[in-house]
Amino acid sequence: MILDAFRRQYGDAGGVRVFRAPGRVNLIGEHTDYNLGFVLPIALDLACYVAAADVPDGFLRVYSEEKRESREWRAQDIGSLEPSHDWSDYVAGVARELVRADYHIAPKSLLIRSTVPEGSGLSSSAALEVSSALALLGDQPMDPLSLAQLCRGAEVRFVGMPCGIMDQYVSVFAREHAALQIDCRSLESQAVDLPDGIEIIAVNTMVKHALGQSAYKQRTEECAAAIEMLRRLDPMVRSLRDVTVALLETAAPSMPHAIARRARHVVTENERVGRFVGASRRGDLELMGRLMAESHASLRQDYEVSCPELDFLVDTSLGITGVLGARMTGGGFGGCTVNLLRRGAGERFRHEISSTYSQRFGVTPQIFDCRPSGGAGEVKNFEKSSHRAPLLR
Ligand code: GLA
Repeated sequence: MILDAFRRQYGDAGGVRVFRAPGRVNLIGEHTDYNLGFVLPIALDLACYVAAADVPDGFLRVYSEEKRESREWRAQDIGSLEPSHDWSDYVAGVARELVRADYHIAPKSLLIRSTVPEGSGLSSSAALEVSSALALLGDQPMDPLSLAQLCRGAEVRFVGMPCGIMDQYVSVFAREHAALQIDCRSLESQAVDLPDGIEIIAVNTMVKHALGQSAYKQRTEECAAAIEMLRRLDPMVRSLRDVTVALLETAAPSMPHAIARRARHVVTENERVGRFVGASRRGDLELMGRLMAESHASLRQDYEVSCPELDFLVDTSLGITGVLGARMTGGGFGGCTVNLLRRGAGERFRHEISSTYSQRFGVTPQIFDCRPSGGAGEVKNFEKSSHRAPLLR
């Protein structure tokens, strides 16, 4: 039980509340969010839980079970905190953003328990940001979109990662049993029912190449450069969202090759999201799978954010009976693949992918069954919530 852990850490405290925010796996629409395009993630059962209680001594304290480390700050100093370049930045950053948005941060003790594996591309950071924000807000109301935007702001301005809105948005807005199609320009979303007869399985490469963060920043700059060039042809272009395949084809010969390929990935990926949603609604499983494979090829060749481990997992997966499609998910350079299977094919898939990958790379991949879970919120009756028992040990 998370409550027992809280008491072990902080002693007997009354009024402990528990907040949960899920990780996610993105089905399709990669590196489109910061280009104001479309994404289609589902939230996972894997989640970050924060137990929180008010304290009288003026400090905000936070303990991470995973890291076995604590941090503390005087509540009155939070508005001027600076990053310390470790896990605590996600909490401190959210706290600082809340203060700057005129919310009150009461002195509190927090205990963090996360089941989202760090560095897996399943969005452990957004889960930590959103659950911490809810714990720090307590009963102060905030609309869900502002919550997602504030958490993203913490990551961009405090952690220094120029991410898009997808991870925080889906962690807040996800619906059980459905994927969420997010329009990252209008910031509206719609639930997309997934067809019966499928399984979604994430497979973790267990690597996170150091190149990831700098390459992510570089891609955002390359996309900005592409927009500059395309705007010369069409002044209405504000983002790659506004760019059609036809416009890109006209412009490409006069653009540096790498920049044109980055833009082509984003433009075609946005299109694939729309086609995938249509295929999902019609129950066209083959097309869904094909679009995922095309997405991976585009991320690998045009956007160049894949790596040998991800490519190996995708190629292996596509050769296993019952697999409809596979692709990298998240930022890339390691982390997970997402695999779409016919229902019933999961057992054989898990066995084959695990043994083939460990033979090749000498490490056993973690495998996660992905069922769309609901978005963030307070966990009521957490002492009794049996379906979360393994998480709330
Ligand atoms: C990371 C970022 C997201 C998104 C993906 C790529 O997960 O946090 O905002 O850009 O990469 O699709």
